[in-house]
Amino acid sequence: MSPLVRRASYDGFAQIVLDRPDKRNALNAEMLTELVATLRECEADPAVRAIVISGSGRGFAAGADIGALASANPIELFTSGFSENWDQVAAMTKPLIAAISSYALGGGLELALICDIIVADQTALFGLPEAAIGTIPGAGGTQRLVRVVGKSMAMEMILAGRRLTAEEARRFGLVSSVTSDGQNVQDLAFEIAARIARAAPLAVKIAKAAVLASFETPLSAGIQYERSLSALIAASEDRSEGMRAFAAKAQPNFTGR
Ligand code: COA
Repeated sequence: MSPLVRRASYDGFAQIVLDRPDKRNALNAEMLTELVATLRECEADPAVRAIVISGSGRGFAAGADIGALASANPIELFTSGFSENWDQVAAMTKPLIAAISSYALGGGLELALICDIIVADQTALFGLPEAAIGTIPGAGGTQRLVRVVGKSMAMEMILAGRRLTAEEARRFGLVSSVTSDGQNVQDLAFEIAARIARAAPLAVKIAKAAVLASFETPLSAGIQYERSLSALIAASEDRSEGMRAFAAKAQPNFTGR
């Protein structure tokens, strides 16, 4: 069987393409397993400092594969490991950037919500339409969406099938940037990935962990955690290199140590 996920390598970052265009990149178990395996390869590769995830053809991903869901029984759903794969995606320590064109629905939006940065082109549409087919989001959508867009909009999207356009998604903070006329969303995501790749890798990793901790901890505990990490990073060679390069008006040469 041909791969459902493709990886491409660039200077400092990688791109992972969901490659099932005839099914609008609907995520089945094989595809999710391949996605996790490819993410792990990128995670282990020191040349990769950021990862762009995008979809091939028309759309990012139109959700979990409805055909596969329809034929799975509850015990299979619980024991297959399908759901745990989402946790593996969330466990990546390198920055994940979702580049959305056209549909990011259901599991497609849930995947984007796990990513650290979402950018979109003007055709992008975001929704969690599961209730319309008699089910509910099962990859963190009810929990992550509300933390981003707030209760009322999350409820409207989840209960009433409201879809957000790219511009609406930007206004609600779901998306950080929308392409300008004629710009390709992949190029926009690549620009961000390249900027991340130029930063100190250890600082990027630790800063991502600190930001993600804010979703799990009270403010005072989060600030204590940040303080500890900020002291820890002072031990890194890259911090000295970054400050040396600044003073010398030179480009830093970061090593990730
Ligand atoms: N699971 C499985 N197959 C899917 C799918 C999904 N989530 N989303 C799309 N597909 C398949 C369609 O069945 C169709 O396959 P076919 O050509 O063999 O019939 C193909 O992808 C193209 O989809 P189609 O509906 O013809 O394209 P469209 O451009 O008219 O509509 C969508 C695109 C995304 C609006 C529509 O496909 C859709 O609503 N998909 C389901 C979204 C959803 O409910 N997601 C949550 C799942 S829990």
